[in-house]
Amino acid sequence: MQSPMTTKDEKLYIVMVGLPSQGKSTIACRMHDIFAKNAIPTKIFNNGELRRKYSTSEDTWSSDFYNPKNKAAAELRKHFALMNIQRAKKYLRNKGQVAIMDATNVSRTRRELIEYHMKDHPILYIECINNDQEIVNLSILHKARMPEFSCYSEDYAVREFKKRIEYYRMIHNPLEAERNYITMDSLHNRILGEKIEDQLPLYSRIRDCLVSDVVRSLFLIRHTETYFNVEDRIGGDPDLTDRGKEQASALARFFKSKKIPYIFTSEKKRTIQTAEQIKSLQADCTIVPLSEFNEIHAGVCESMTYDEIQRIMPDVYSARKADKYNYVYPGGEGYMTMKERIQIGIKKAFYLNRRPDNIMIIGHRAVNRMILSHFLYRREEDVPYIYIPQDKFYHIVATQDKKVFELKRYQ
Ligand code: F6P
Repeated sequence: MQSPMTTKDEKLYIVMVGLPSQGKSTIACRMHDIFAKNAIPTKIFNNGELRRKYSTSEDTWSSDFYNPKNKAAAELRKHFALMNIQRAKKYLRNKGQVAIMDATNVSRTRRELIEYHMKDHPILYIECINNDQEIVNLSILHKARMPEFSCYSEDYAVREFKKRIEYYRMIHNPLEAERNYITMDSLHNRILGEKIEDQLPLYSRIRDCLVSDVVRSLFLIRHTETYFNVEDRIGGDPDLTDRGKEQASALARFFKSKKIPYIFTSEKKRTIQTAEQIKSLQADCTIVPLSEFNEIHAGVCESMTYDEIQRIMPDVYSARKADKYNYVYPGGEGYMTMKERIQIGIKKAFYLNRRPDNIMIIGHRAVNRMILSHFLYRREEDVPYIYIPQDKFYHIVATQDKKVFELKRYQ
């Protein structure tokens, strides 16, 4: 059992807890970046990195390595955990102020080992939980593409990784006996439970960081020109025109020198075709289509032109004009009803992007208006009129100490 810390210490161990693919590293990086910006010496100690670097056995990628019955492998994993514990202690003995232990740490036994060795400063456990299966699956797919699985098919790697998660689930003990802990929904940045018995340094900063969206560099792009755009038709699933393809290739050239690990699009061809060109000039880039970023569904008006709507359905036309934000197309959506799914899409994109260095979303006119208004306050009635051109994109930075919204040309 951990001993109580009665006086306020200046140094802190943060111990991440959670099954694989629950967002621990994303949260660890977010805290690291915020502390680094505020001149608080912080370092992440990741057990997986040590395993990949020092393990002589080829088999540490295989699920069997995580089987609790595999005693030799369990010893090896404990060995890497101890290596990091010693490194973290040394770091705090010297110039370090915060050591973040990034590993699963799901069993009470592992946490007892940590507490036994780390008595010199208080420990705060942060458990990450994400119950969105779609996101967990995407995150597993990302892991399956890592170099350690490179000799195996993607399907096989995914199956092995899922087995690994099940082995960890078998030894998972919820946080309870620990003196200081926070459990959080790592997808929605929400605190689910907490218990704090010691006086912890930086506590309010940490809490604030856990619940904030941090956007270091978001490129928000509208798909390039489509056949429907030329005719002023709405909705549907049109292809890019030749001009649209040229615009997409200009975008690709513009972003060539920037690292774009993920491009989040809608499920519509026009956003994916735009993304494919950008991906073609990137070394390592994955396109992730999300239904949450599909364009506003215009119901009975899908594939019509604005002129046709005005002529054939004048009531729809004038009702929408009178209150564009709240108006819902018959059989379709309105800006107001899109709000929730757009927010979920943003959460998913930020969760998967891990290091928030560069993140790219290719959306649609109404979708991008909603995404912009998520970061930049606008009165609801003004949101449906935000300018979303096809020859420029928005660059957004929203951190604790910087907010930037720039409309930039790419040609
Ligand atoms: O490009 C056209 C479009 O994306 C349509 O598919 C969509 O219905 C429309 O823009 C949204 O803009 P507004 O709300 O101004 O009609």
